[in-house]
Amino acid sequence: MSQSQQPIVSMRQITKRFGGVTALQDVDLDARAGEVLAIVGDNGAGKSTLIKILTGVFQPTDGTIELDGEALTMNSHADAIERGIDAVYQTLALADHLDPASNLFLGSELTKTVLGIRFLDNRKMRSEAERVLADRLGVHLKSMDAETSSLSGGQRQAVAIARAVYNKNLRILVMDEPTAALGPQETARTLKLIEVLREQGLAIILISHSLDDVFAVSDRIQVMRRGRRVGTVVTRETTRQEVLGMIVGASEMAEEVQ
Ligand SMILES: Nc1ncnc2c1ncn2[C@@H]1O[C@H](COP(=O)(O)OP(=O)(O)O)[C@@H](O)[C@H]1O
Ligand SMILES: [Mg+2]
Repeated sequence: MSQSQQPIVSMRQITKRFGGVTALQDVDLDARAGEVLAIVGDNGAGKSTLIKILTGVFQPTDGTIELDGEALTMNSHADAIERGIDAVYQTLALADHLDPASNLFLGSELTKTVLGIRFLDNRKMRSEAERVLADRLGVHLKSMDAETSSLSGGQRQAVAIARAVYNKNLRILVMDEPTAALGPQETARTLKLIEVLREQGLAIILISHSLDDVFAVSDRIQVMRRGRRVGTVVTRETTRQEVLGMIVGASEMAEEVQ
């Protein structure tokens, strides 16, 4: 899709302080439909704090967020989900002893009423889980009965993503280090999933330490350093060298040496 289109979400001049610690200072971010925006930067650069503000987990100390050009205030992660913004975290919040469908509907279980009594609709949850995994993600699990703990890392990732995309309102999906715990094959599958979701018109925000992943799937790269945005570059117009230089502050270092 065109990169010149209106962003779905625009964060402007976001500052976040935790007591005396300034985690973010005047940071901007734009996310567009059908685009993967990678966010890179060293540990402590402010990546997670920035996306926790976008997903309603933290409230900014200063700055504004616009959704479709209108001011957006969120007081909780639930507010963000309602507005179509959700996240999949590296530490997958899946219940290992439950099957994939139960995980997909954890906290929002489907029910049916029989003779005035409400029951969990396990059959419906299972078929819906199968449908969203297959239709949205192209993933077919061998068994929908298995405990989630028996799934591969990539399959667990798919279940966590399916939980987010089951929300029909979903427009922005944040993924914080989705491949950090995965081997090469599972990583390749997860990158494929990201491309599938981009094709469906979602805005994907990918936080990653892996420049391999970032250069494989992103359209733009936003570089963070010490709580600030160093810059945002178009992936196909940049190089690893340039991005690495921005991450470590190469130009600054050169100045310090002189
Ligand atoms: N809840 C918190 N309380 C205090 N300081 C925090 C909190 N969360 C993050 N920070 C600080 O904010 C800065 C940015 O952290 P973070 O956003 O986690 O960086 P990144 O995800 O890029 O590694 C760090 O200095 C970190 O110690
Ligand atoms: Mg982080």
